[in-house]
Amino acid sequence: MKVFQSAGQIHAEINFLRSQGKKIGLVPTMGALHIGHIKLIERALMACDTVVCSIFVNPLQFNNPDDFNKYPSTIAKDTQMLEEIDCHLLFHPNYEQVYGHSEPKEYDLGHLNDMMEGLYRPGHFQGVANVVMRFFEIVQPDMAFFGLKDYQQYMVIKKVTAQHLPQIQIMGVETIRDEKGLALSSRNLRLSAEEYTSAVKVPALLRQVKEKLAELSVAEVKTWFEKKVNKIPHLKNEYIELADADTLELVTDVSNHSHIRVFTAFYAGEVRLIDNMSIA
Ligand code: PAF
Repeated sequence: MKVFQSAGQIHAEINFLRSQGKKIGLVPTMGALHIGHIKLIERALMACDTVVCSIFVNPLQFNNPDDFNKYPSTIAKDTQMLEEIDCHLLFHPNYEQVYGHSEPKEYDLGHLNDMMEGLYRPGHFQGVANVVMRFFEIVQPDMAFFGLKDYQQYMVIKKVTAQHLPQIQIMGVETIRDEKGLALSSRNLRLSAEEYTSAVKVPALLRQVKEKLAELSVAEVKTWFEKKVNKIPHLKNEYIELADADTLELVTDVSNHSHIRVFTAFYAGEVRLIDNMSIA
């Protein structure tokens, strides 16, 4: 695997590969790689000739400085994992290589920025849009791969890419869960044993939402879920929402939508986790 820190050098390498007719896939990450990332890279390896994994902890997308400072960094282990699955290129730039001296741009994110993660993490999606668009400009991939654990992020990236770089195909890859059902996240590394035991109960509650909707209204189901989560030691529910899977319009009446996902954010101790799943 070739490792690049310079934006100019990886850009030149990709231009050379493209001139040879290679199809380029990009998997953007913030490192602390886990099986969820590896599945994304495996999908990219199946669909593309050359796969680039980027590792960059993007300060622009952290609305909480503490969260940024505590973000795990495991670059030696990450590099080894990427070598083992035969990823072709690793791009591991510093801040200057990504942003230079340019000011962040303001993207039109529409209603996607006014709800759920957009509402509770002001500035987060502008930060994500900025870094992903920068990586797209540097790497110019044919396809880019994102995990559906961050479903709202996936929708934001699809929207911004369609507006600015519509030739790039955005691929969503289903969430990978551990043996207890917890969605894999680099943040799980920060959970204590007790917090982990509590957090694994949330996916089971999300799955029950579908059954509950047979007898309760959306508003009642949300109240039921919130109470259940808040009763579990160490957990604090931040939000629970149902949204249309195609538009992310919030759902108040399930009969008006054919594809629905349920979304939650909650704290386990001080660690903020998100999850979502399809229920219709
Ligand atoms: O999902 C992530 O890890 C990040 O938000 C991303 C897409 C790599 C942008 O920094």
